[in-house]
Amino acid sequence: MNVEIYADYTALSERAAEILAELVQQKPNAVLGLPTGSTPEGFYAAVVRMGLSLSQVRSFNLDEYVGLPRTHDQSYYTFMDQHFYQHVDIPLENRYILDGTRPDPEEECRRYEEAIAAAGGMDLVILGIGLNGHIGFNEPGAAWDARTRKVALAERTRQANARHFERPELVPEHALTMGIGTILEAKRVLVLASGEAKAAIVREMVKGVPGVGVPATALQRHPQVTVLLDKSAAALLSR
Ligand code: GLP
Repeated sequence: MNVEIYADYTALSERAAEILAELVQQKPNAVLGLPTGSTPEGFYAAVVRMGLSLSQVRSFNLDEYVGLPRTHDQSYYTFMDQHFYQHVDIPLENRYILDGTRPDPEEECRRYEEAIAAAGGMDLVILGIGLNGHIGFNEPGAAWDARTRKVALAERTRQANARHFERPELVPEHALTMGIGTILEAKRVLVLASGEAKAAIVREMVKGVPGVGVPATALQRHPQVTVLLDKSAAALLSR
């Protein structure tokens, strides 16, 4: 893993945007895997500020809550629309987001995998990391060859995300997520982490013994991973 440490959140967000810009310059029709969460907000804002044209890009979101209609203010569809899609020129038909309201989630996940394969696989997947080491919504215990599927959210994840909902019990119990196997097939992986709350799990991801108990340690297997940290998220790395 290639770890880069920046002075603050703005600097790491701008670096992530620069990495995307370099990729799109080399490959205008790049295929992306895109995250949600608070961490990537600065990255999306930086890409929008750059005015980068993404007119040939195809993008696949990592995950979506089960049961939230796309119009719900906490759906990842709404998140992507507000933070990114409203402001960039990725054609509508090139934006893929799992639909958590489909009656047959298995079918939805299978079609998603087929669409990623038909696009030629992902060139770059960008990830945040959960406090328990989840990537996408692959919670501790998830198999490393898992594909896109329906998963149950860990209680800790529901608590961590409760801040976005009116009441904690409104956080969905399930989600659809790309699998760790799907993520590991991307040509390149970029992980973003910021703030001291992430320092311990960042150390686990980078230096811990790989195992299914910490999903992000699967990334140690991937040959092209860049981890972008601010100083607080990197605080425990040298110990
Ligand atoms: C969310 C998302 C993940 C994200 C993580 C961390 O639940 N499913 O993709 O990386 O949790 O979120 P945050 O950046 O808000 O800490």
